[in-house]
Amino acid sequence: MDAINGTSAKTAKLTIGETSWDLPVLSGTIGPDVVDIGKLYGQTGMFTYDPGFTSTASCESQITYIDGDEGILLYRGYPIEQLAESGDFLETCYLLLYGELPTAAQKADFDYRVTRHTMVHEQMSRFFHGFRRDAHPMAVLVASVGAMSAFYHDSTDISDPQQRMIASIRMIAKMPTLAAMAYKYSIGQPFVYPKNELDYASNFLRMCFSVPCEEYKANPVLSRAIDKIFILHADHEQNASTSTVRLAGSSGANPFACIAAGIACLWGPAHGGANEAALKMLGEIGSVDRIPEYIKRAKDKNDPFRLMGFGHRVYKNYDPRAKIMQKTCHEVLGELGIKDDPLLDIAVELERIALQDEYFVERKLYPNIDFYSGITLRALGFPTSMFTVLFALARTVGWIGQWKEMIEDPGQRIGRPRQLYTGAAQRDYVPIARRK
Ligand code: SDX
Repeated sequence: MDAINGTSAKTAKLTIGETSWDLPVLSGTIGPDVVDIGKLYGQTGMFTYDPGFTSTASCESQITYIDGDEGILLYRGYPIEQLAESGDFLETCYLLLYGELPTAAQKADFDYRVTRHTMVHEQMSRFFHGFRRDAHPMAVLVASVGAMSAFYHDSTDISDPQQRMIASIRMIAKMPTLAAMAYKYSIGQPFVYPKNELDYASNFLRMCFSVPCEEYKANPVLSRAIDKIFILHADHEQNASTSTVRLAGSSGANPFACIAAGIACLWGPAHGGANEAALKMLGEIGSVDRIPEYIKRAKDKNDPFRLMGFGHRVYKNYDPRAKIMQKTCHEVLGELGIKDDPLLDIAVELERIALQDEYFVERKLYPNIDFYSGITLRALGFPTSMFTVLFALARTVGWIGQWKEMIEDPGQRIGRPRQLYTGAAQRDYVPIARRK
């Protein structure tokens, strides 16, 4: 990717006091223009100030586009609805990494390459045994992915394109194995090795739910559902964890360390941890007739309670992934013969009430991807502690794709934001004997 592909036919005038500056305005393919402030400090001696990055584009990217007002999500230009409906997760991985949908031959080769990297170094299983059995699987995943830097030295040289691609394939291939190992370890069952003749999703379900004492055959409807869930979670522009991966990668850190940083950030309840928090919230509400009480709390500024799985920094319309997630939820419950799931009843009623409530309508708060995913994952047999692990498993391709794009950008430099300093002005040291 050239240093900056945006075109700059326009300028923005900044006037401070008697002085004005013309700042270049860059336009992308679609979406908002950007004001290039790269030279602002040099020209004005001033920084911009945007702590939550609500109005800041941190990079140029060609991978994922979100239109929050219209509820649109595109991976390399393809609508998420079409990819989730027609393709599989490894096809989406290929698209995000290479920029184009694979031909049949390219897909077969990519599937082959990923499948043959699904095992982890045998000594990693001993690494797991250092944890308490009740350790949160996300803590285990952060540690084990970071530890991959200690095992796969032949794919940590980020200046070598070959090694960058091997590291990418390894991350995509080994995350299901590590995630399943974290789950098996937490329930005291033996690790299950991947099986090469299985597709990605079925392989993962088997590594999680099979036991040595009997044969396991993944239900194709459930495999398809988890594969679709992976597609929905694969990438999402410059969200908090992806920005973390980019910032970590900008220092030249190896890809495994960068992905571990992304996993750590995703864990937060305001981000990927929301699926676990949303299910806990539905359980706490407990019944449909208690919804008004929780809606009231969510609106109360003095109450830290928020509707988990609701609201989004970018989507000011329905999260397109949440719609597909809701449909997948019904498919899974139907396949499992779960006629009425009380938590689903609460979720559907909560959504109905919230979407008619002025507070949520005014603030454009809609269900996001995390609102229905928890109910689906629980029905598939996963404990709530594994929900964010599955999010991290799926998001790994987005993280690694954005990391690769950044590393391969000729204009790439270490990310180093500045600040508005409001601390003490310079003052002299006071010896302890003279302090009051
Ligand atoms: C993900 O960025 C991504 O793309 C993330 C993600 C991805 O794929 O990577 O999409 C995945 O993280 C989805 C979001 C999961 N998080 C949650 O569901 C947690 C609950 N949601 C909120 O914490 C919140 O909506 C955020 C964190 C998602 C967004 O926060 P913002 O953009 O900083 O919005 P805000 O906190 O400034 O809220 C604006 C207003 C505030 O009210 P006022 O001060 O204007 O009166 O809306 C209110 C907030 O109090 N509000 C909520 C609310 N979310 C926002 N009120 C009640 N319940 C909520 N869920």
